[in-house]
Amino acid sequence: MNLFDVYPIFNIEPVKAKGSWLWDKDGVKYLDFYGGHAVISIGHSHPHYIKKMEEQLEKIAFYSNSVKISQQEELAQKLGEISGYPDYRLFLCNSGAEANENALKLASFHNGRKRIIAFEKSFHGRTSLAVAATHDKTIQAPVNGGNDIVFIPLNDEQAFKTAIDTNTCAVIIEGIQGVAGIEVPSPGFLQLIRQECHNTGAIMVLDEVQSGYGRTGKFFAHHFASVKPDIITIAKGMGNGFPVAGLLISPLFKAKHGLLGTTFGGNYLACAAGIAVLDVIKNENLMDNALKQGSYIAQKLKGMEGVKEIRGTGLMLGIELHFNSAQLRNELVGSEHIFTGSAANKNTIRLLPPLNVSQAEADVFLHGFEKVLSRHTKVVSA
Ligand SMILES: Cc1ncc(COP(=O)(O)O)c(C=O)c1O
Repeated sequence: MNLFDVYPIFNIEPVKAKGSWLWDKDGVKYLDFYGGHAVISIGHSHPHYIKKMEEQLEKIAFYSNSVKISQQEELAQKLGEISGYPDYRLFLCNSGAEANENALKLASFHNGRKRIIAFEKSFHGRTSLAVAATHDKTIQAPVNGGNDIVFIPLNDEQAFKTAIDTNTCAVIIEGIQGVAGIEVPSPGFLQLIRQECHNTGAIMVLDEVQSGYGRTGKFFAHHFASVKPDIITIAKGMGNGFPVAGLLISPLFKAKHGLLGTTFGGNYLACAAGIAVLDVIKNENLMDNALKQGSYIAQKLKGMEGVKEIRGTGLMLGIELHFNSAQLRNELVGSEHIFTGSAANKNTIRLLPPLNVSQAEADVFLHGFEKVLSRHTKVVSA
């Protein structure tokens, strides 16, 4: 059997990884400034992560959600504490799309409404409703149509005020738009959404799948705006590579047996991964490091010729160039052995390194990037 060929791939086969580095099967070393789509939060193969996972695997790896799994409670307790949401409840699932799917479903169960407000350039995943709330027609099948979803421009206060009313079920917004190319909602815009949701009975869903887990220097990107959403969705950095996701659910919602469910969500290994990640983020002050290294990298990038704009906070950065970035990204991997991410905005490169990246590693990136960039700016200006 062959693989169903849906991914454009680099012809590289990593066989080993440690911290911010990967090695391919020929022993070539790569700097990971992408974390495999923002997933690697505490660095590859962190010793505490390995220990926690191994210990759990030795004991019990899986049973369904029909028994008590105290690791889920430990994860919820630690997550409540570090995120500043001790009074919210946690529902565990397996992917970002599933988290958003459940968030919108929960909103609709709660207020009985159907209309969803989402934002232009958004990405919320590929399951039915999550993809319908994603502003990319090319990944929506006809079967994903028929939902009542309104897309409005990010940060357009007037358009938002016109769109929201007492028929609105939920407003779903990314803490920082990732796939779009790092587009940041203003604090004032998030505060307006909070206020209008409160006034109309709509549910505010904050998708922190990519922007959460300390990546921006705060645990959640929306903390910069001091708003409290009704539901927060999480995935990616949560398991440092082990599939785990979840919803933080405000006290507004009443739990009922059977309301939500999953076979794999919250299994022992997923919880061990989730607990290990939170331990390391806390014990190694990774949010401070994200802020510090992110500011350092952004500052250095701003002075480079060919760079149009740097967007984002902490270690969630978008570098917008004056030209299409695809070739430059390929050269970064091919000649400098540095992984970065693409974006829907073709001129933008996404940086999503591990949260414990060091300044020396940041310098390796900056040096390699400047070298490749200078070749391109010469070509562009010639
Ligand atoms: C903001 C956001 N939400 C949801 C998702 C979907 O997550 P998953 O691929 O785990 O389903 C992504 C993935 O890139 C994302 O960036």
